Amino acid sequence: MHILTTQAQMQQAAHDLRRQSRRIGFVPTMGNLHEGHLSLIRLARQHADTVIVSIFVNPTQFGPTEDYAAYPRTLDADLAICRREGVHLIYHPPVTEIYPPDASVTLAETSLAQTLCGAARPGHFNGVCTVVAILFNTIRPHLAVFGQKDAQQLRIIRRMVRDLAYPIQILASPTIREPDGLALSSRNRHLTPPQRAQATVLHRALTLAQANFAAGQRDPRQLENDMRQLIQQAPDARIDYISIVDDQTLAPLTAPITRPALAALAVWIGQPRLIDNTTLTP
Ligand code: PAF
Repeated sequence: MHILTTQAQMQQAAHDLRRQSRRIGFVPTMGNLHEGHLSLIRLARQHADTVIVSIFVNPTQFGPTEDYAAYPRTLDADLAICRREGVHLIYHPPVTEIYPPDASVTLAETSLAQTLCGAARPGHFNGVCTVVAILFNTIRPHLAVFGQKDAQQLRIIRRMVRDLAYPIQILASPTIREPDGLALSSRNRHLTPPQRAQATVLHRALTLAQANFAAGQRDPRQLENDMRQLIQQAPDARIDYISIVDDQTLAPLTAPITRPALAALAVWIGQPRLIDNTTLTP
């Protein structure tokens, strides 16, 4: 497994792979890999014959009060996992290799990013789009894999690929959960044992929404209120948002649901802010 750290090295390696007619599958990550990332890597391996993983904690997607400095950096463990999973190449650039000190061009997504995490974290998805575009331009993969847990990110990346005409196939990998339903996330490790027990409330709320929906409830407000009431029973839970939005446009729904919808939530359980989602299909 090669570990490359400069754009020039990465571009050359990608160029060589393409000349050998290798199909390149790309998994962008910020490191601190867990089972969720493994499923992305495995999906990439199924659809490509060379898998490239980037490990880069992207400063531009963190807000001024967010946890960029504290974001877990576990390179040795990440490399061991990638080796075990048969990853061919790691791209692990320093910040200056991605962003020249006087960088002044960024991307902005102006529609899908208006709700959910985009509303709660202004500028976050512009940072995501900018770094993913830089990585796509450097690696030029045939396909890239993103997780469904980050449902809004997945939709925004698909939109970016469409609007900027990237010849890259985007594959979605299902959310991986603990046996009790908690979606895997790098942030779970910051939960204390009592908070870890309470963190299942996100999945329980979404399961409740699914059950109510299956029983015929179509009023988004009512579905949201039932989820809110359940989550408020967890003493360390503080709701950032609970929202039912159109599955395609991510616009909040107020009228009865007649088309596929996305139920999404972000909740602080103590310090960590966790997200999860499910689709509601009439
Ligand atoms: O999902 C993530 O880990 C990040 O947002 C990504 C796609 C690697 C961009 O930094």
